[in-house]
Amino acid sequence: MNDQWLKQSNDVKGKNELKIWLNGSLLSHEEATLPVNSAAVFYASNVFEGLRAYWNEDDGELYCFRLAEHFARFRESMKMMRFEIPYSDDDLYEAVRAVLSGNEVQEDVHMHLVGYVAGIGLEATEPSGLYIIPRRRPRSDDPKGLSCNISSWTRTSDNAIPIRLKSGSNYQNGRLAALQSRADGYDQPIFLNQEGHVAEGTGATFFMVRKGRLVTPPLTADILESITRSTLIDSICPEVFGMGVEEREIARTELYVADEAFFCGSGYEITPITSIDHFPSGRRRGRPDHEAAVARLLGCRARRRRAVPGVAHAGVRRRQGLDAHPSRLCVSNARLDVRVGGINQRAQRFNVEVGPRPNLYVAHALAGSLQQAPGIR
Ligand SMILES: Cc1ncc(COP(=O)(O)O)c(C=O)c1O
Repeated sequence: MNDQWLKQSNDVKGKNELKIWLNGSLLSHEEATLPVNSAAVFYASNVFEGLRAYWNEDDGELYCFRLAEHFARFRESMKMMRFEIPYSDDDLYEAVRAVLSGNEVQEDVHMHLVGYVAGIGLEATEPSGLYIIPRRRPRSDDPKGLSCNISSWTRTSDNAIPIRLKSGSNYQNGRLAALQSRADGYDQPIFLNQEGHVAEGTGATFFMVRKGRLVTPPLTADILESITRSTLIDSICPEVFGMGVEEREIARTELYVADEAFFCGSGYEITPITSIDHFPSGRRRGRPDHEAAVARLLGCRARRRRAVPGVAHAGVRRRQGLDAHPSRLCVSNARLDVRVGGINQRAQRFNVEVGPRPNLYVAHALAGSLQQAPGIR
């Protein structure tokens, strides 16, 4: 056993480990096991979602990012994999609540919500099960950004191993590319698809700024239908920051002359890319001002607290008036339209509906990471 493996293993087993929710029980990492002959273990026949919950110190509450959309995508992945888990969306919401409240979480965490096939063999579709692994994960505040390369590995195509389907098995493509990047001295790869156009990162959506426009590859470019991507396209960029996003194919060489580039995702939040194949990103080449540029681009104001669409109440510390039906809270929040510095009419109606005080706060790390970026404090 090498030292790093031993350290990771001890960290996980340490007294600080957060318990895993497995089919209704909260278990230690050692107790939470699956049969080695299951399709889940052998073929990685699973589907999963990466969820974020943010602790709001002022409010003493946890808020999850767009649970309803994550659950919807989870079900789409299961549909493509031709299996189901016997849990409704309300059950899923309760499971998330159980893992957070059971672990008495009072900090930012990331969770993997995993539906799996416990049966044996490649074609097994049942029985199925569900687990949630929480881990401590603060908001991204790495000011360094990522040096990226264009991977020599191709993003798997929709007709072979569709990336729209969020299964653990599909991530081997990302693993190969990420390890190759590390071996070659980069932080992360950017995939091209089989047509040779830009696709995405291993676990994040790619955005760039060129000639004053914010551009991202289309949903047909062999990318995951990212929830952060649609949050930027549908809400934050047009409604909060007054700029649209162009969804179009991106050629490799555009990356070398892009003004700015960043990854986004529930896990990555907004992570600046500082160079691609050693071509520095950012107008002022060679200067580490990319975070400020991204912040400027998104019109961020220093320390301004804002509510962000889709931040749903996790309800870990229940309060009078906020204790509405969980799925309603979650789904309703996902439809809310929230503006900087205030809450619009629909949001107000929502407040009247579920409780005396706003159920929306600055929690999403898009805002968090931008607030933390140098140059905009
Ligand atoms: C391959 C891939 N692309 C993009 C994303 C970003 O998606 P989201 O914003 O829904 O987290 C992820 C994260 O799950 C991912 O794994």
